[in-house]
Amino acid sequence: KQLSQEIESFVATSQEQLEEYRLKFIGRKNVIADLFAEMRNVPNEEKKAFGQAVNDLKTQAKEKFQRLIDALNDSGGGVEEYPDLTLPPITGEFGSIHPLSATRNRFIQIFERIGFNVSTGPEIEDDWHNFTALNFPENHPAREMQDTFFIEKNPDIALRTHTSSVQIRVMETEKPPIRTLSPGRVFRNEAISARAHCVFHQMEGLYVDKGVSFADLKQTLYHFAKEMFSKETQIRFRPSFFPFTEPSAEIDISCQICHGDGCNICKHTGWVEIGGSGMVDPNVLENCGIDSKVYSGFAFGMGIERITMLRYGIKDLRLFTENDIRFLRQFNAL
Ligand code: PHE
Repeated sequence: KQLSQEIESFVATSQEQLEEYRLKFIGRKNVIADLFAEMRNVPNEEKKAFGQAVNDLKTQAKEKFQRLIDALNDSGGGVEEYPDLTLPPITGEFGSIHPLSATRNRFIQIFERIGFNVSTGPEIEDDWHNFTALNFPENHPAREMQDTFFIEKNPDIALRTHTSSVQIRVMETEKPPIRTLSPGRVFRNEAISARAHCVFHQMEGLYVDKGVSFADLKQTLYHFAKEMFSKETQIRFRPSFFPFTEPSAEIDISCQICHGDGCNICKHTGWVEIGGSGMVDPNVLENCGIDSKVYSGFAFGMGIERITMLRYGIKDLRLFTENDIRFLRQFNAL
């Protein structure tokens, strides 16, 4: 059977390869002849079937030889025989989608259906896009909310601490209505633990148009929570502060691990924080050339790691980057 497959899949693109085939399968000391020699070791009751199989192989090898010659002639000796698309597929180990990618993809799918597109921007960012345009005052402690990695000694260039920087880029170049999602890697000088990392992924969203209200923000995020987790998922907003949104709110969802029975993930409160949100501060719109008397908007930002941990019950985010095959294999149905 193995030989039969080998014969079928043989491709000859040159006279040399054709000769190679001839020596192996047709020539005086070919592999099929070797099989005939094996005949005397085959038990009597199997001799007939064995002989038949080897004969078939011999016929197959001859017919294939003729086809190889024809193909070589047809192509002037240059192009390989047309592949046989009816052959069984080559099976083996396949990779799988990383759980963070799966969550990002699902995120995008949910928001594309309600009219959002996807935008990306640079990971190395300037002060304007990461801070100043987002209404962080110069030398204001708010800049220290996110411990920044600067590049060399130039304080103007840093690794972005959030993908809000991408939203600035979109608002600077596009006219409302804007509905966009910004997924990407972000960097903060934080100690690595089961719940935090200095490199992680964010998904931020922005909606700017005439008459966008806080009710739109709440309803959109409620819709998201139900689609990402389940119909039963609850959502709640807690007042908060961000320089770029006013009012601002922290987003909590009902704990997906214990469903309120109490666990370490929600610290026995039944609620887990998944991100920040708020109405885009008018200053931010004006910084990007959008008239804040005409337009309003909402924005939100979440960590993809946290969402993925809640989705799959993963208790340590370091697993995402360790590349342990035993961890990754558990997601090969995604
Ligand atoms: N950029 C904020 C952060 O990274 C999240 C956020 C986005 C908050 C949009 C409000 C509005 O922490």
